[in-house]
Amino acid sequence: MKRHLNENELARDERFRRNRIEDQIFDPRNVALATRDLGPAQMSVDRPAVSERSRSLMHGIFVGEIQALEGAGRTCFDFDDTEAPFALKLDMARQCWDESRHVEISCKLSDHMGTDIGEYGESAFLFAAACNPDPVMRLCGVNRALEGLAIDVFSSMKAFGESTEDPILTFCEDWMLADEVTHVKMGSDWLRRLTETDLDRRERALEFQRTVDKVFSLGGFRGESEENPIQITRKFRELAGFSQEECDELAELAQQAMEDARTMVAAAAAAQS
Ligand SMILES: [Fe+2]
Ligand SMILES: [Fe+2]
Repeated sequence: MKRHLNENELARDERFRRNRIEDQIFDPRNVALATRDLGPAQMSVDRPAVSERSRSLMHGIFVGEIQALEGAGRTCFDFDDTEAPFALKLDMARQCWDESRHVEISCKLSDHMGTDIGEYGESAFLFAAACNPDPVMRLCGVNRALEGLAIDVFSSMKAFGESTEDPILTFCEDWMLADEVTHVKMGSDWLRRLTETDLDRRERALEFQRTVDKVFSLGGFRGESEENPIQITRKFRELAGFSQEECDELAELAQQAMEDARTMVAAAAAAQS
């Protein structure tokens, strides 16, 4: 079997539609929507289009789970034991088991929410981060940055499930959240273990993590105010091996991204008037 697949080689049937993450983030309609100033962006029952937004987010989670499974599976196979210790591969194999369960849960949850597979696009950003030739980079880009984001997304969706009094959504998100904390913790532990004697490599991996985190904070998507649809969840991040300083750094990055988005919206509004 071939080692190191790229994202264009993933197996998908005709239901799936691939798109590019840049197109989603820089969609000009996002600015147009933001200029309408519809109030806090946090997901709640009284927000316009909340049903559409939650279904679209749930579909994003579903394809993310498939790619997390594929990425962890590749790490078991792409490296020999000198590049990635056998114990790390065992952790990745356990993660595959969890992610396959998440794919099933997400599929059923999408059904419950009234969404078909392929109703929204799939960007392969997560798997692309899992293609890095250095296993430490994979752990930072996927387990710490993207599964860290999954912690934030699942706890925000769980809160949404509670506010809509939907026990199915609430319990599903809670179960997946518990597993993601374990996956992020694996990333934190292995990062420290594998770079104990190579601090330059550790710094390069953390820089890769910051780059990925930045992409997912664009436009104020994530943060700590009611203007951010996804909330940074410090409590679970700390359980998963993030230091207080790392949480502060992430919050600062998110704040900066939100200010950049506000400047863009103001410029777009001025151009329209
Ligand atoms: Fe997952
Ligand atoms: Fe995960």
